[in-house]
Amino acid sequence: MQLHEKIPNNVNLSQDKRLLRALEKWQPDYLKWWGEAGPSDFQANEIYLRTAISVDAKGWAHFDYVKMPDYKWGIFLTPPENDRRIGFGDFLGNPAWQEVPGEFRNALRRLIVTQGDTEPASVEQQRLLGHSCPSLYDLRNLFQINVEEGRHLWAMVYLLHAYFGRDGREEAEELLARHSGDKDKPRILTTFNEPCTDWLSFFMFTFFTDRDGKFQLLALAESSFDPLSRTTRFMLTEEAHHMFVGETGLSRVVKRTLEVMKELGTDDPARIRAHGAVDLQLLQKYLNFWCSSSLDLFGSEISSNSAANFANGLKGRPDESQYEDHVLRSSTFKMQTPSGPEDVPMLNALNEVMRESYIKDCEIGLKRWNRTIERAGHALRLTLPSSRFRRSIGAWAGQTVTPEGKAVAKEEYEKNLSQWIPSDADRAFVHSLMQRVVEPGKMAGWIAPPERGVNNLPVEYEYVKLH
Ligand SMILES: [Fe+2]
Ligand SMILES: [Fe+2]
Repeated sequence: MQLHEKIPNNVNLSQDKRLLRALEKWQPDYLKWWGEAGPSDFQANEIYLRTAISVDAKGWAHFDYVKMPDYKWGIFLTPPENDRRIGFGDFLGNPAWQEVPGEFRNALRRLIVTQGDTEPASVEQQRLLGHSCPSLYDLRNLFQINVEEGRHLWAMVYLLHAYFGRDGREEAEELLARHSGDKDKPRILTTFNEPCTDWLSFFMFTFFTDRDGKFQLLALAESSFDPLSRTTRFMLTEEAHHMFVGETGLSRVVKRTLEVMKELGTDDPARIRAHGAVDLQLLQKYLNFWCSSSLDLFGSEISSNSAANFANGLKGRPDESQYEDHVLRSSTFKMQTPSGPEDVPMLNALNEVMRESYIKDCEIGLKRWNRTIERAGHALRLTLPSSRFRRSIGAWAGQTVTPEGKAVAKEEYEKNLSQWIPSDADRAFVHSLMQRVVEPGKMAGWIAPPERGVNNLPVEYEYVKLH
């Protein structure tokens, strides 16, 4: 692959004139979208970014200053596996598909479009954050994530163009036509229409919502449709960085809050806020909001769609090889529903299986933050809300359940909701903290510096050249 190519790739694009033409036709539309819906301002600034220029160990992380519109959004698939076999579902053991089987065309396109839609959506959600960055280091990380989500869109558009003919090209246009939060043409999934206009939300989003992304990509990486599997495998290398930004971002908020608590000798939220830091109770509310929203992304507890996707080999479970049974025709799952436990065919319970492993993954971050809080001598512990809290999809949708998982009357739920998720006043306070800090090495008062800089550079490196 060559960086000088218009669309860097490892799919031999120059050999496939039709596909190349289709993608070159989509490229200006993409750039137009980036200009209108992507990061507001900063388009003329040099930013220290990582670009994937090939899939080998060296090439996937090439660091240099680049202006965002000049970023090389490429198409990269992990190299093919020799004689890859289908790893789950009713076609277990058959050769993986290099083309789309006619009978699964619609379902596969749907999966690709749904994944593809989240990528530009998150860029749109985050478009104003640059103006209120807590440091140059963070500003650079934001833009790194934005350009990579742009590349993920390219990855899905490549599949649509290469394997789905005219329908695929139409879907690729639609991916640029829907917009996060738009009244008439919103993004497909609710979480991707939620505003993300402060950095606390951004770190929550990258912790919880990008982690959903990781689980979806892991499930698609198992797909029998080999080009989808190879595409998502490569996307996962980039997704890891997004979650790193969320996890370390929140760690730094916790660290700073504990410093302020120590300085002031108090755990009184009002005094911590007056000092310009985020009290832990407020952090918990943001966590409740973004976690519950992201849990909906896994879909209904009982789902015939996910059963069909698994049985047909389109979408597996994350790390399918960790399981023994890959067919699931004869096992059941004990599902907790509002009307009591229910035995559900395992195939129909796969959304819930995935949601459970996601929750376990989230808990790792919480344990880390709670250790810091414990070491600082405080009794408070951050917790994940119950997976039944504030759900809008599935068996628990509309059920009035507390973050602890207790069913309560509607009046009680409504009365307390502003204690559980950010109130207008909480959001206004967080917004008041969002003052732009851009002197190299300096941090906003509500967040501690990171432990290290990017690519072995110091924290005070000029990651974005503003002048
Ligand atoms: Fe992504
Ligand atoms: Fe991401």
